[in-house]
Amino acid sequence: MGKTILITGGAGFIGSHVVRLFVNKYPSYNIINLDKLTYAGNLANLKDIENKPNYKFIKADICDFPTILNIFKDNNIEGVLHLAAESHVDRSIKDPFTFASTNVLGTLSLLQAAKECWKDDFSGKMFYHISTDEVYGALQFDNTLFTENTKYDPHSPYSASKASSDHFVRAFHDTYSLPIIITNCSNNYGPYQFPEKLIPLFINNIRNKKPLPVYGKGENVRDWLYVEDHARAIDIVFHKGKVGETYNIGGFNEWSNIDLIKVIIKTVDKLLGNKEGESDNLITYVTDRAGHDLRYAIDATKLEKELGWRPSLQFEEGIEKTVKWYLDNQQWMDNVTSGEYEKYYENMYSNR
Ligand code: NAD
Ligand code: TYD
Repeated sequence: MGKTILITGGAGFIGSHVVRLFVNKYPSYNIINLDKLTYAGNLANLKDIENKPNYKFIKADICDFPTILNIFKDNNIEGVLHLAAESHVDRSIKDPFTFASTNVLGTLSLLQAAKECWKDDFSGKMFYHISTDEVYGALQFDNTLFTENTKYDPHSPYSASKASSDHFVRAFHDTYSLPIIITNCSNNYGPYQFPEKLIPLFINNIRNKKPLPVYGKGENVRDWLYVEDHARAIDIVFHKGKVGETYNIGGFNEWSNIDLIKVIIKTVDKLLGNKEGESDNLITYVTDRAGHDLRYAIDATKLEKELGWRPSLQFEEGIEKTVKWYLDNQQWMDNVTSGEYEKYYENMYSNR
């Protein structure tokens, strides 16, 4: 039997791409997707691989330590790719407790289970935490970039919870020698992203001729990476990364929100056959997000130099592919926005 790898949060946006990549690329691995199926989890994201013999789904909450420990013991897990999290900044501003619970205590529960099961033999084991560049805080409008040595300075409850979980992961390495790796990645975009995040929300609103709420003046800058490039980086780091290390992952692709929004509008109008500029009037400036970080930008040179990864997709190509995917998969979007997807899986997985 091959290795058993536990992927948490595999029903979410990035997790589903990672699960798909691992299930298809490594037929000898047993891939367990552990997910609580919160509002952000959607097993329809994995329809194409759900019947593969090396794939198994377990509905569980990472905060439920006794259950997590049993899953570790029952399945002889050798590697963990930990992506389960509450991931949306706006939600964290409204409900910070859920973020502390899942992102901090949930991560701690996984770490503790891994430590208890692996403590007699750490060889061949790996606990890999997928984290965010938002832990580094905010940059000014200059040429500076986040490196692996940038001091943590989180501002939102989301980034504070991810920073805290990163610290726990490192603490388990320093204190108990648990083999760990952390990556901190910039903003992802692509298929299967929950439409509360900027890109899918705006594509869907343009399609439905609804307002596009731009926070503040739209001047904030984000570095965007196509999600499959992130999944590919995760594969490389998991297999070749050095234990105890941190790697930054980024797109070398900075955009102010307003410029990005104009590209999205242009692409959606083009693919829908609308007149150029037809949807420009949907742009609606709204009150800024509280504590809105000005700029994120990643220096991913370490990953490039040490492990040979670079983003493969040009942004123009990635955004066109993404818009096309959402327009071609309206049923997916409609099921998510109507809440239909939750009812279906509630019945299917009411028990583990
Ligand atoms: P997502 O919100 O789309 O998915 C999160 C998944 O975790 C969902 O399937 C959800 O059901 C599951 N989950 C939530 N709470 C859980 C719990 N208590 N127990 C078990 N499962 C639970 O998130 P995403 O955008 O795919 O992000 C995945 C990871 O990558 C997160 O850790 C996030 O911090 C990190 N990250 C995201 C981005 C980004 O741009 N989206 C960038 C860098 C890092
Ligand atoms: P988001 O997709 O929520 O990701 P993050 O907050 O993790 O960077 O937001 C991306 C950027 O877009 C961020 O600067 C906030 C902004 N934004 C809007 O202007 N309007 C919106 O409706 C949303 C969801 C985001």
